[in-house]
Amino acid sequence: MNDASLSAATMSAEGLASAGLPAEAAAGRGPLKIAVYGTGYLGATHAVAMAELGFEVLGADVDQAKVDALAAGKVPFFEPGLDPLLEKHLATGRLRFTTDLTSAAAWGDVHFICVGTPQMKTSHAANLSYVESAATTIAKNLTKDALIVGKSTVPVGTAARLRELVAAQAPAGVSLELVWNPEFLREGKAVDDTLHPDRIVLGGTSERAEATLREVYAGPIAEGTPVVVTDLPTAELVKVSANAFLATKISFINAISTVCEAAGADVTVLADALGHDVRIGRQFLNAGLGFGGGCLPKDIRALMHRANELGAYRASALLQQVDEINMGQRERVLDMAVEACGGSVLNRRIGVLGAAFKPDTDDVRDSPALNVAAALHLRGAQVTVFDPEAGDTARRSFPTLSYATSIEEAVEGTDAVLVLTEWDQFATADADKLAPLTATPRVVDARGKLDPARWRAAGWEFAGLGRPAA
Ligand code: UGA
Repeated sequence: MNDASLSAATMSAEGLASAGLPAEAAAGRGPLKIAVYGTGYLGATHAVAMAELGFEVLGADVDQAKVDALAAGKVPFFEPGLDPLLEKHLATGRLRFTTDLTSAAAWGDVHFICVGTPQMKTSHAANLSYVESAATTIAKNLTKDALIVGKSTVPVGTAARLRELVAAQAPAGVSLELVWNPEFLREGKAVDDTLHPDRIVLGGTSERAEATLREVYAGPIAEGTPVVVTDLPTAELVKVSANAFLATKISFINAISTVCEAAGADVTVLADALGHDVRIGRQFLNAGLGFGGGCLPKDIRALMHRANELGAYRASALLQQVDEINMGQRERVLDMAVEACGGSVLNRRIGVLGAAFKPDTDDVRDSPALNVAAALHLRGAQVTVFDPEAGDTARRSFPTLSYATSIEEAVEGTDAVLVLTEWDQFATADADKLAPLTATPRVVDARGKLDPARWRAAGWEFAGLGRPAA
């Protein structure tokens, strides 16, 4: 952020700091009314979690199909533990969904913005149009004092700009405050991460807004979750820096895995040994096909873009390397598949285990597994994909691949099998039973999940990223 926008943000902060607490909360009159805008992975989980914490919640989205599904008790994506809680709170009457954003704005005391910030089609920048549209709709349609809380992942400096936008849109006589409270939930663990977060970051809050958010998060705070109260740019940056650090950790171990391969060392053993150092830690040191999904790739690119705009060129260069190493892993796995098939995959049958970008989700956004499967298909291989949960979402994105409904079906008659997503059921698959189903038992483990000794003993030719040859 430059000085001019910083002072603009500070001025707006002062102007908005007089904004009142929602009246009900201030007067201790009943639970807060919480409106949540956007009902994707973040918003749907947040809305359900807010109901679980005891609030009256209205989830609002422009997507009629999503709203209909949620209102009927069906989560429109796979997220362990979310369906029963959704059903529970539709039944308690605390949780409702609507496409009427205008009424949600008039109804709520606290308005959480949880809409997406995808990567722009033409650059690495984040597309902020959904965030801007949500903030404008809320501000324009307020009928009482309110608190707008941004949770979406945004480039640093966005919240300050939004403050000016909402201040210009709010009806006269209504006072509002806009703060930032980034979300750190992981897909597959979203419910637990939301109800029991590692930390709560509150950016740009007045004392009254902080009190309201402490009321919202009273449950997790009572459990000991630390609260970090800071300014807007720091809150925005905490989020993207966390994702950038995780991405860097993955690319670090993937870079080291190339050294391991060249030197005949085993990167999985190395990672375990590194992880015993509490300063390093074992998590996010799994070498393999690299990171994908709707967050890490686009967040590091948006940070790269913003760092460049701000003149922080070294940070940008570091993230560029992280991205390059990550994308290079997909090439490495393709090369391994070609090598396993004797120099060409043309007309070879390849079984791909995994389509989701990681286990415990059906999300295939920027999935490294599907990327590799599609690239093999383009090189003339006959590719059959199996994923325990992401078969349908994968088929919608890549209808030209063929899909199996079991591991056995995917490996049937294959010249090579690739393990591309780290689902537990692939790690525990019965190598002895699978071997005779193949044309030739060859496996490429691109996630470091299989036990090479067990698979080799079952007659498989085994190749693993960063693992020594037999
Ligand atoms: C990530 C962050 O972990 C969350 O804290 C954050 O809130 C979220 O983005 C977000 O911004 O909304 P998520 O995208 O659900 O969460 O996925 P991760 O669990 O971080 O995994 C990302 C990718 O890294 C996956 O493709 C996974 O296979 C890969 N990965 C992970 C590795 O390749 N190696 C590892 O050791 C760990």
